[in-house]
Formats: sequence, structure tokens, C-alpha cells
Amino acid sequence: MQRLLIVSNRLPITVEKKKNALHFTQSTGGLATGLGSFYKSYDSIWIGWPGITSDKTNEMERKDIETELMSKLNCYPVFLSQNDIEKYYHGFSNKTLWPLCHYFTQFALYDKNFWESYRRVNELFSDVIFKIYKKDDFIWIHDYHLMLLPNLIRERLPDATIGFFHHIPFPSFEIFRLLPWRKEILEGLLGADLIGFHIDDYTRHFLISVHRLLGYEYTLGQIQADDRIIRVDTFPMGIAFDRFSKAIQDPKVKKEVTRFRKKLSEHKVILSVDRLDYTKGIPERLKVFNTFLERNPAYREKVIFILVAVPSRTQVNHYRLLKKQIDELVGWINGKHGTIGWSPIWYLYRSLPFHSLTALYSIADICLVTPLRDGMNLIAKEYIATKTDGRGVLILSEMAGAAKELGETIIVNPNNREEMVEALAKALMMPEEEQIERNRLMQKRIQRYNVVRWKEEFIDRLVYAKKLQKELRARILSPDMKMKLLSDYHTAQKRLLLLDYDGTLIPFFGKPEEARPGDDLLELLEKLSLNPKNEVVLLSGRDKDTLERWFGTLSLCLVAEHGIWIKEKGWKIIEPLTNDWKAEIRPILEIYMDRTPGAFIEEKEFSLVWHYRKASSELSNTRIRELTDELINLTANLNLQILEGNKVVEVKNSGINKGRAALRWLTKGKWGFIMAIGDDRTDEDMFKVLPERAYSLKVGLSSSLAEFNLKSQGDALLLLEELI
Ligand code: UDP
Ligand code: G6P
Repeated sequence: MQRLLIVSNRLPITVEKKKNALHFTQSTGGLATGLGSFYKSYDSIWIGWPGITSDKTNEMERKDIETELMSKLNCYPVFLSQNDIEKYYHGFSNKTLWPLCHYFTQFALYDKNFWESYRRVNELFSDVIFKIYKKDDFIWIHDYHLMLLPNLIRERLPDATIGFFHHIPFPSFEIFRLLPWRKEILEGLLGADLIGFHIDDYTRHFLISVHRLLGYEYTLGQIQADDRIIRVDTFPMGIAFDRFSKAIQDPKVKKEVTRFRKKLSEHKVILSVDRLDYTKGIPERLKVFNTFLERNPAYREKVIFILVAVPSRTQVNHYRLLKKQIDELVGWINGKHGTIGWSPIWYLYRSLPFHSLTALYSIADICLVTPLRDGMNLIAKEYIATKTDGRGVLILSEMAGAAKELGETIIVNPNNREEMVEALAKALMMPEEEQIERNRLMQKRIQRYNVVRWKEEFIDRLVYAKKLQKELRARILSPDMKMKLLSDYHTAQKRLLLLDYDGTLIPFFGKPEEARPGDDLLELLEKLSLNPKNEVVLLSGRDKDTLERWFGTLSLCLVAEHGIWIKEKGWKIIEPLTNDWKAEIRPILEIYMDRTPGAFIEEKEFSLVWHYRKASSELSNTRIRELTDELINLTANLNLQILEGNKVVEVKNSGINKGRAALRWLTKGKWGFIMAIGDDRTDEDMFKVLPERAYSLKVGLSSSLAEFNLKSQGDALLLLEELI
């Protein structure tokens, strides 16, 4: 069993110093409660800040804290100074990243001192991990406080297995781009092997931001960085379902329920529980309750709204202002609607122990969870899980990640007061059978995908991501294999070199005509082909006129248009072909060109190519799908094929490809050495027909039929130079 190092800003235990004595209490917040419910059952160490600043403790107390936390709770404290806490925690984490990720851009501060402190504290965490780390440990980093940490660890421990989970929303690119240090943050995260988010929207936003800001391509949750592949996936966090569903059997909870029931008598109970945070929409919710009472006088003295607000980040000004606003609103509503013996709102500004919290969930007829923005929201799931008899109605904001899994609740837009007032009325009137029917479905779902399953799936995918990394690393041409390749080349008497051009011998350019070979490349190719032991073939998708213009004077063999034209001594067509189909296909490509800014059409003798390198990737992704669908239908009886290459879709006669062209040389004689290098999908046809003993090399890190990968186009050139 490998050890799990959980790393988060906050430990599940918060240490406080009161009257010179140390007190240990449970931390609140979804991260601490979620992971706190299971981490002790594994061989794990939780590394994080114990909630007390180092300035408030002396050396001895810090040692005591460390011993207490490590021996009893497997927690390793990272002590932070008051200055760090102000700038890194209250500052960059909670005044920059938190508001930005929750779409409160007007609250986000961009302060260089905060940023520097954030970087410093992330480095401090990396020092601690470096000290604790043992070979084969899994490192699982959590949340927005530590976004630089994955790469900081990667730099020191290149082989470490590192996962990162983002517990809050990842905003759309339009919001994320506002951050002055956006690239550094993304690069920091890409040090991980696997990056997880609660819902698909956040995953997609992240992938788009990486693509637009760092230029990395992605496919199916996989980012291809310069020399690594990073997996990105969605894992909706669950809760410790059984703990909540069994809570009501606990005598302590039962007693609490009886106590509450006595106080509440016959009143209907509406409950809300949140950290006191501006993202949770508490004032908006209170205003809804006020309007509800105004419009439904029949419910006066019949309902009680229990508002639990847990103190949070009280050093940050926006939280203080919010507290004041909520205090005033509660006072105003109670003053306005209250009667002697009935206060419509019971307001608790404190954290509740588990038995009181679950007792409240259990008696509440309605739970109002209406954040303006929330990464997941576990309260919603905990409420449903606690309702063992199936009764109770959850009203849930569509802006909470949990809304994706709890579709049977009443889903509301928290900015739409009318809709929320109606939802309250509907919830209070909902027949019991309907409540039970809705809740049972959700209970099944959250029971299945509970927090342990969430953790296991994450770790499982992390292992898989690491395996992919290892396989990839094994496929990259190693110095030893390269030596063998060079030695085989030198001993062979007859050698065949099959080389693709664009993306292999030259980088990509915006316009195809810009990729003309320079003198160095021409010289290299000429040297290789003048060697009497060598046959060098350049296999390209380009038209024959361009190839002739660029390479016509060299002693190379050329293949144009993916195998339609072949030049050994002079140009020859591989077989008689027609191109009267072009008149039918060209107008379709033109329509798609007009609808996709940046796309253009290239016409070759026997093919038509739709290029989209310069078009926006989101738009062209949609367009290619539409275009290829349409082309597949149209070309079904035209004996044509549709080839998807590197940022191109090409239509040409079927049966023509680089593999078929390569076979002309492969079958020619006894080769002592064969090597093929290519970078895109059209080169796979060439790799497919190679004999087993051939060296096949794919430029770039994506998967391929080739035996080896080369990290970059530069590496391909270097290899050819080494042959000489
Ligand atoms: N919680 C708690 N005591 C309280 C109120 C809340 O332990 O008095 C816990 C609650 O059980 C839940 C977590 O705090 O697991 C809140 O998580 P959520 O995802 O809803 O919101 P977050 O605080 O992470 O934004
Ligand atoms: C959210 C964050 C957690 C954080 C918690 C409480 O759940 O995702 O990372 O721990 O809020 O906030 P605090 O600032 O008190 O740690």
C-alpha cells in the first residue's frame, strides 16, 4: 500500500490559544469535513496549516502541536507567520483567487505583495513535502491556496505521483484571463499528473484557459504539454453518506431532535447552513423570505427560518461588511413580521457540532441552499442523506456544482427572487409522496458516489495517469536506443529513410507557403541522399508543384498529395484518377470557410483541403464535426476518402495514402536499415506498413503506431544530423 500525502491549506483540526492553553477543534468547510471523514482509515499524512500563526506560539508550543497532531491525527502542521497569513491566505487566496473563481470580479485585488507571499508560502509547503516524501508516496494537493505547488514539487521530485483537486469553481476563460499571474498559476498546476474538478463546466473552462494562455493542445481530458501529458477529469465530491443516514439512530442526535421539536412546536422549519460568505447568497435568501411572508400572510406564525451562519475569514473586509448586512436584515425582518411569541428567523452565528447539525437537518421541512456561486456544496447532499424517512424538500441553486447531481430537487436561479419565492411556496405545499419519491432517487445516487468512492476514483485515475506518463516516457527514444539506431544505420549497406515534411522537418506556420525549407535543411537532405547507401523519400501531403519547386534539384525521391504523385526519376501518377468530384465538394468547403473566420481552402490536383490552423479552436472543433458529417454523407458513393490531418481536413480519392506510396520502396529490395519519421495522422498509414525491424518515430507525444516518440520536431532534425 502506498502512502497518501494529503496537502491542503487548512488541516481538519484548528488549533487555538485561549488563556495560554491550546485548544483543538474541528475545522469547517467542505474540504476539511469531506476528506476528514475518511483519511484516517488509510495510511495517510495530512499536511497543512493548523489555523494558528507562528507568532502566537513559542517553539515549545509548536513542538507540542506537532506531536499532538502527528501522534493522534496523522496531521503534519505547516506553521505560517502572521505576515504570511495576511498576504497569502487573507490576501492572494481570499482577496484574489476566491472572488475571481466565484465570479466576484469586483472584489478581486491584484496586489504584487500578495502574489509574492503566495509564491513563498507555496515554496514553504514544497520544502515540507520534500522533507516528508518517501519514494512511491502519492501526493494529493487540494484547492486554490496551493496552485503553484504541483510544479514546485515536480521540479524537485520529477518522478513523484502528484494529483491536484480544485474544490471551488474554475471560472470561464473570460474571467480567469483577468488575473495578472494567470500563466504562472496554470503552469503551477500542470506539474500534476492528474487535475480534478467537481463538474464538467469547470474542467472545460480550465482546458480552454490552458489552450488559450499556454497554447497546449488537448483531447479528451488530456493536455499535451511540452514533454508531458497531463490528465484532467471531473470527480463530483461526495459525502460520508452512511454517517449522515445513520445519524438519527444516535441517541445524542435523537435527544437534540426532541429538544428542538419542543421549542419549535408545530412550526414548519426552513433551514439554511453556510459559512458566512458572500458567495452563499445569504442576504438574497433573507429578502426572499421577507417577500414570501409579505405575500403569504397565512404562513405567519406557522414557519420558522433557522439561519446558521458559520463565522469565516473574519479578517477580510467583505466578510465583515456581509456580517453587518445579515445582522441588520435579520433584525429588520424579525422586527417587521415578528409577533409576541414568534420570531420568524432564528439566527445562529456559530459553528455547530455534528449532532446538532444533523438534528437540524432531520427536523427541517425545507433546506434552502441558494449560493450565488459554489464549487460543489456539501450541505445540500448532507441534508438529503439525513432524511431517512424520505421527507423534506431541498431548494437548490443552479449555481452550485451539486445541482448537476441533484436534479430532482427544486432548482432555482438565486438571482431570481420571484422564482425563489414561488419555490418556497411550492416546497411547503409539496405532497409527502412526491417528496419521498424525489429524495429516494437522489439518496441512491449520493450513496453510490460517496466520498470514499470519490477518493478511490481520483486515486485510480491518478495511477492510470502515471502509467500513461511512464509508457510515454518508455516510448521516447532513449539515448541507448538512439545509439543502437545509429549503429544499425552505420553497419547497414542499404538504407531506406521515409520522411514526412511539415511538422517533422519543419515547424508549422500560419500559411502553408511560409514553411519553405531553409538552406541548412536542404543541405542536410542532400547530404543524406547523396550517400550511395541511402534512399531518401520525402512523403508529403503537399502538391507536386510545391515539392518540385522546393526540392526538385535534390537527389531525393518525392511523394506528393499523400501518395497520388510519385517522383523517382520523373513525376508519375500512382494510378489514373479523376477529379470531377471537386465541383460537387468545393462549394461545401466554401460554405464552411465563410462560416469559420481564419479557415481557407487549398486546391491540389487531386484533392481539396480545408485548413483551420488560424481559426479559433472552439469554433473549428464544432465546424469540423459538422463538416466531416456532411462530407461522409456526400462522399459515400463517390469513392472518396476524408483525411483528418494536423489542422486540416482533406478530401481525396480513396485508397491513396502514404502507406501505399511507401510500399513502392519497401518492397523494392533488401534493406539493411529502415527508418520512418512523421508527425500526424496521415503518417500513421506509413507506420502501419513498415516491417517489424524498421525504426518508426512519431514527432510529438500523442499516441501512435510508431515504436518511438520524439519530443519535438527539433529532435527529429537532430537525429538526422547525427546520421551524417
Ligand atoms: N459544517 C460543520 N458545522 C457547521 C456548519 C457546517 O461542520 O456548523 C460542515 C458541513 O457539514 C459541510 C461543510 O461544513 O460538510 C460545508 O461544506 P460546503 O461544501 O457546503 O461549503 P464550504 O464551506 O466548503 O464552502
Ligand atoms: C471552502 C474551500 C476550502 C476551505 C473552506 C473554509 O470549502 O474550498 O479550501 O478550507 O472553504 O475556508 P477557510 O478559509 O476557513 O479555510
